[in-house]
Amino acid sequence: MTTKTHFEIAVLPGDGIGVEVIAPTVRLLEQLASRSDSFTLGFKHCDAGALHYQKTGEALPDATMDSCRSADAILLGAMGWPELRYPDGTEIAPQLDLRTEFQLFAGVRPIRSIPGIPSALSDARGADIDFVLIRESVEGLFALRNEGVVIDDREARDTMVITRAICEQLFDFAFAYTRERKKAGTPGRLTCVDKANVFASLAFFRKIFDERHAGFSDIAVEHAYVDATALNMIKKPWAFDVMVTENMFGDILSDLGAGLMGGMGFAPSADIGINNAVFQPSHGSAPDIAGKGMANPTAAILSGAMMLEWLGTRYTNPAALAAGRQLRDAVDRAFQAGLAPYEIGGKDGTSAIADAVEAALEQEHA
Ligand SMILES: NC(=O)c1ccc[n+]([C@@H]2O[C@H](COP(=O)([O-])OP(=O)(O)OC[C@H]3O[C@@H](n4cnc5c(N)ncnc54)[C@H](O)[C@@H]3O)[C@@H](O)[C@H]2O)c1
Repeated sequence: MTTKTHFEIAVLPGDGIGVEVIAPTVRLLEQLASRSDSFTLGFKHCDAGALHYQKTGEALPDATMDSCRSADAILLGAMGWPELRYPDGTEIAPQLDLRTEFQLFAGVRPIRSIPGIPSALSDARGADIDFVLIRESVEGLFALRNEGVVIDDREARDTMVITRAICEQLFDFAFAYTRERKKAGTPGRLTCVDKANVFASLAFFRKIFDERHAGFSDIAVEHAYVDATALNMIKKPWAFDVMVTENMFGDILSDLGAGLMGGMGFAPSADIGINNAVFQPSHGSAPDIAGKGMANPTAAILSGAMMLEWLGTRYTNPAALAAGRQLRDAVDRAFQAGLAPYEIGGKDGTSAIADAVEAALEQEHA
């Protein structure tokens, strides 16, 4: 892969609090780039989302898709509005269309305790939670998303699709990701989460996982059923290193993981394919708090940090990689100093949290 020093970012703030959390994230990213003489960032804001669909009849305009295609990375807020739906009753969810369009098969969801934020668990080891959930993001039970059928108002059917091509890419990504983490001192263990005891599709998923392990024999593996995994994410989440799972299971388990961290506002994510990647907080548009300045921007800021790390690694730019780590460390220091978002019963809103992270970055630079 070529070395690069300028990165173009397509920014899709989307709906509700998506807009509110992306604004300070872009500000922090601009601040980091302005301090560096080794990389620059350009941001192009693009229309997309359920409210854009309401206005124009288009959720993801061609011009936005073109900007996403030519960008080095895509930064997204959140999309969807529960009252706005297609005639079949499903929601307008262009963020899912992006995953399909760019074949973003690996949904990376780090679940990590933030210093100073009390874990949802009473056990003191809640502070040691540090694992990554990799959610297959283009097929599984989401494969035929808008093509499920309702037959004569009598029964409804959706279909699970697991393909060898996507599984091989997904597992190779997950093993390589686990190997990278191991270099930083983690156990180097990848758990395949499935329901292979019941479904042929998921027995196939597990079989391909075992086959791909042959190329990564330095990585320890284990198999777990999704129901037992839900239990162990509550009983002993500190025991996980990296897990990889089907799309729908990953959708549910990643919200459980966000709950362990303190709430949706803390949980970042990246959807990664071979040539493109979207970085976005795991949460949605949160209509219940939109427009009130109460949204926790931490998940969006940490997603921005993941974006810098990904760009730095992909385009051999150590300064961008380091800037991503600085941003994550600044978040940790800001929370260690006592920030308390509304989400956990505190009084710190979007601006207060973003300002504290900015101050932590400045302190480091001074
Ligand atoms: N990736 C995405 O864009 C995405 C993900 C999930 C849901 N959605 C869409 O978002 C809309 C709302 O969905 P939902 O209510 O199920 O999920 P949600 O994540 O928007 O909200 C769930 C709960 O978490 C809270 N919350 C979420 N993010 C927060 C933050 N940053 N700070 C503080 N509190 C936060 C909300 O107030 C709400 O109580 C729906 O239209 C849904 O389809 C989009």
